[in-house]
Amino acid sequence: MLIDNHGRPINYLRLAVTDRCNLRCFYCMPEEGIQYLPKPHLLSYEEMIRLCTILAEMGINKVRITGGEPFVRRDIIPFLWKLSEIEGIQKINITTNGVLTAPLVPELKKIGISSVNLSLDSLDRQRFFEITRRDEFPKVWATLEALLEHDIPVKINTVVMAGKNDEDILSMVELARNQNVSLRFIEEMPFNGEGLRPEQMEFWSYKRIIDLIRSVHPELYKVQDEPNSTSYNYHIPNFKGTVGVIAAFSRTFCGTCNRIRVTPTGSFRTCLYDDGVFNVRDFMRQKLSDEEIKNLIYEALQNRAKDGFEAENRRTSVVSESMTTIGG
Ligand code: GTP
Ligand code: 5AD
Ligand code: SF4
Repeated sequence: MLIDNHGRPINYLRLAVTDRCNLRCFYCMPEEGIQYLPKPHLLSYEEMIRLCTILAEMGINKVRITGGEPFVRRDIIPFLWKLSEIEGIQKINITTNGVLTAPLVPELKKIGISSVNLSLDSLDRQRFFEITRRDEFPKVWATLEALLEHDIPVKINTVVMAGKNDEDILSMVELARNQNVSLRFIEEMPFNGEGLRPEQMEFWSYKRIIDLIRSVHPELYKVQDEPNSTSYNYHIPNFKGTVGVIAAFSRTFCGTCNRIRVTPTGSFRTCLYDDGVFNVRDFMRQKLSDEEIKNLIYEALQNRAKDGFEAENRRTSVVSESMTTIGG
């Protein structure tokens, strides 16, 4: 098992396979999009498989595929098959916006994808359009239906934004009445210093979200969270699904952080708030051996930020890039 310098076991890799996205969520990307990376700058699939094999040998057993939007990268399905064959990788999870996903769901089931986190900020087609700047709600809905039909566990990620989708909170909760979904309302994280601060009245904090749900469902009760869960989860009696909140802004995740991140260009991050401790793509292209790469990874994990680092950094909100280049 991989243990960092503060005694935290590390078993989870978040691998962002592309910086591209087919939506333009206003909190993530400008309308015109971002300057996409040229293909040679990206880790190739072969490089990603090599990296995941090395990490699996070191103790990583869960890989989350993120982006950008992972399904806009060509040939992702053969890559997922290869990933599923790596010894030691017990869980492959995907975070997707669901625009291109519905037709691929039967194949994802065959590959054995453990769960899918679907980003969906509104159940109303017009509001969905206003937030994402694309009229793709029907395709995302089809993805949700396909996932449920194929019994792939699904979590719905909803970033709650004042004045944009406040009205969706309670209708989302209704979804959990008859569907086995795990809803997760997410506090919006400001990037580049933009966005509301928690002390502002309109900010949808963890507490405010739960208070609203409880006002309509007083019987809401807390359930035991999985270790390392990003969300605090609740259940409403007789509901099939669960309701949770990711306090992405008001809580610090550091104490139980079990994850490392690799960006589409191969930047290796031991924390959401570091700028990359080295570039694993460059090491591979410089022909370093697996052993040499393992030693560098091991060393990086002996220099991880301590608990509290996130809280300290957040005051100045130094996550300077958006989720699309870090992969969340
Ligand atoms: P599972 O627990 O496997 O479902 O995954 P997850 O919740 O880590 O993954 P997902 O990609 O669905 O991310 C959900 C939200 O949690 C995103 O908004 C992430 O940015 C946020 N998040 C994940 N890790 C961290 C972290 O270390 N710190 C903070 N502040 N937010 C995080
Ligand atoms: N604050 C909170 N969550 C965000 N996400 C993207 N940008 C932000 C932000 N600024 C979420 C997406 C997706 C997950 C990976 O990260 O909605 O569900
Ligand atoms: Fe795309 Fe996700 Fe960013 Fe929206 S939040 S633009 S779906 S990467």
